[in-house]
Amino acid sequence: MGTPTSPIDASRNRSPRVHDEVAAAGAVTVDGVELVSERLVLRPASESDLNFYFEMRNSPEILARADQEPKPRSLVERQLQGWIERWQEHGFGTWTIFDQDSDERLGRVELDPMGAGWAGISPGETEVGLIVHPAHWNQGIATEAAGLVASDCFTRAGVNHLVALTTSDNKASLRTLEKLGMRHRGQTQHESDPTTYEVYELARPAPRP
Ligand SMILES: CC(C)(COP(=O)(O)OP(=O)(O)OC[C@H]1O[C@@H](n2cnc3c(N)ncnc32)[C@H](O)[C@@H]1OP(=O)(O)O)[C@@H](O)C(=O)NCCC(=O)NCCS
Repeated sequence: MGTPTSPIDASRNRSPRVHDEVAAAGAVTVDGVELVSERLVLRPASESDLNFYFEMRNSPEILARADQEPKPRSLVERQLQGWIERWQEHGFGTWTIFDQDSDERLGRVELDPMGAGWAGISPGETEVGLIVHPAHWNQGIATEAAGLVASDCFTRAGVNHLVALTTSDNKASLRTLEKLGMRHRGQTQHESDPTTYEVYELARPAPRP
């Protein structure tokens, strides 16, 4: 959440840099890292995901949560481009979640460096953001996908801890962060936005002796 937009929508454009590290988990793809569990495959977001993101972002359940007007396709396309470019700058970014068997798209997980202006949060702390298509809520998908991403960023990308921001009325999000083992760190507001967010944190596990 670099900017005080909805937690669902945080994203910015970044300049490209080639990423060529070898993954500790999953296979390296041209634009990033593919992560695999028994049920899910997480692939770096690509232009081919546009229809899915457009449809999901404008689904009634997400509109109700985001408390926003429908988003035009051109805006979703720009947002997707920013997610793709983030990979090249940071070596992490946005993954689209797929069902391993059917190859159906289910949602997305993203990692994004926080911007400036957040009380008690240093710029550059890595935020994890989650969204699952309403057709697939409450099947454990967000928890499983975020667990894969956390494990990858702690091992491969050298991230020390993750933060997540949500509002106190978002019970599904709060429960998901709790299931992920995240600790409540406090509250924050952006200097330009009166909304109060709950801040959760997950530290990189200590190495086993
Ligand atoms: C938050 C979100 C990503 C969770 O995705 P998901 O795949 O359904 O998550 P999971 O199935 O892994 O876990 C959801 C948990 O919340 C619980 N839950 C759902 N609605 C709830 C409610 N109203 N009150 C309390 N718990 C609730 C579920 O029962 C489940 O917990 P359980 O496994 O103990 O039963 C999804 O609801 C979503 O996309 N919401 C809109 C976007 C959003 O708010 N993102 C979070 C911003 S950080």
